[in-house]
Amino acid sequence: MNQDIFAKRRKKLLKELGKGVAILKSPPSQTRSNDTEYNYRIDSDIYYLTGYKNAGSAFIINPNDKENVYTMFVLPKDPERETWVGRRLTFDQNIEKYGANKCLSIDDFEKAATEAMKTADTIYINMNHDTSNRHKMMDMFQNVKNIVQREGDGPLRIEALSSITSEMRLIKDAVEIEAIQKASDISAEAHVLAMKNCKPGKSEYQLQGIMEGYFLQNGCKSVAYGSIVGGGENATVLHYENNDSEIKNNDLILIDAACEYDMYASDITRTFPANGKFTDVQRALYQVVLDAQNATIAACKPGITFEELHAIDLKILVEGMVGVGLLKGKVKDIIKDETYKPYFMHKTGHWMGLDVHDVGNYKKKGKSRPLEEGMVFTVEPGIYVSQETDAPNKYKGIGIRIEDNILITKEGHHNFTRLVPKEINDIEMLMGESK
Ligand code: GLY
Ligand code: MN
Ligand code: MN
Repeated sequence: MNQDIFAKRRKKLLKELGKGVAILKSPPSQTRSNDTEYNYRIDSDIYYLTGYKNAGSAFIINPNDKENVYTMFVLPKDPERETWVGRRLTFDQNIEKYGANKCLSIDDFEKAATEAMKTADTIYINMNHDTSNRHKMMDMFQNVKNIVQREGDGPLRIEALSSITSEMRLIKDAVEIEAIQKASDISAEAHVLAMKNCKPGKSEYQLQGIMEGYFLQNGCKSVAYGSIVGGGENATVLHYENNDSEIKNNDLILIDAACEYDMYASDITRTFPANGKFTDVQRALYQVVLDAQNATIAACKPGITFEELHAIDLKILVEGMVGVGLLKGKVKDIIKDETYKPYFMHKTGHWMGLDVHDVGNYKKKGKSRPLEEGMVFTVEPGIYVSQETDAPNKYKGIGIRIEDNILITKEGHHNFTRLVPKEINDIEMLMGESK
């Protein structure tokens, strides 16, 4: 991505910081086993503000230091290590590439962070799974406070940087929307490929392999989350990730899989019959989820709240479940008493962006917040009838979810992932063509 966008975000952050300082440290890479590591993926806030992607880095954004508002800290040149793990830029090259005022060795970070803390009233730190950094920052804050308060001012509070960045990240800019569209397009094409290649007798992991291979071939370094490919009863487990069962003739297959492109997520689910043709029972239940999803997406526009969207979704799901005999009673009572929960136990959607479950509050002052232009989220109703439920036998072992990714626009919405078939006829036609 062009560096201008990161500079623009830092400028916006500076306004929010006031006399505060932002101190960000990249989490360490994670060991997989013995001396192998998981592929590194930097903290989303760091990427959002700097465009930097490598481990062993830290960043101080300090409006009180007029000469060096933006200092970055990186692993210094080390010819021997570079032979093993890849070349590093010089400090000057980093300044040039990332638009910093100053670049130092990561070894100088703690001292510089201590000095920066002395200049600020609020210390904003990036909180993530790196608890040791969090503790270290707390200790440093306390030490600085003890020293500085004898002389007058000192830092008053330590805060999560996300209190600023989450709101910034909630409204996507044009560059982000483009990346999400690209992630959505590649993921959508992979879903079509999986549908075309599905046959009873194959393994769930073979469909996973087709999709993830496609992601990689199209420049995606990673999935946006662990791929879920579940047939029959496995589809009733919300985050099933074993993906190692054989696909059976009359099963519905649920695939919830998508790539991360240029750091941005997509999140698509489709459910389809293993043999290309829905049974009557599957068709009836599938149509309920589809109707709920279509109606919920149609309602997406500025001003509507997540809670209202969920209510639309839930009402259609419950009406449908009563209609097919899966639930008994009055729709209003079922919703009030939440007796639908054995079959629909999650919310209608979530924010999406740099993280698949992206940051941002869903409520403001205790109330569901109205959607605004630039917000991106999923709409993903489902019905899951596991063998554990006391549903009529004919519905047991059916899990259905349909998930698309939506952008709120000035006029209404844009569906990033609309190109993956989801109408029953379209799925049957696509799968029929490939037989
Ligand atoms: N793929 C995870 C989710 O849909 O939330
Ligand atoms: Mn989702
Ligand atoms: Mn999903």
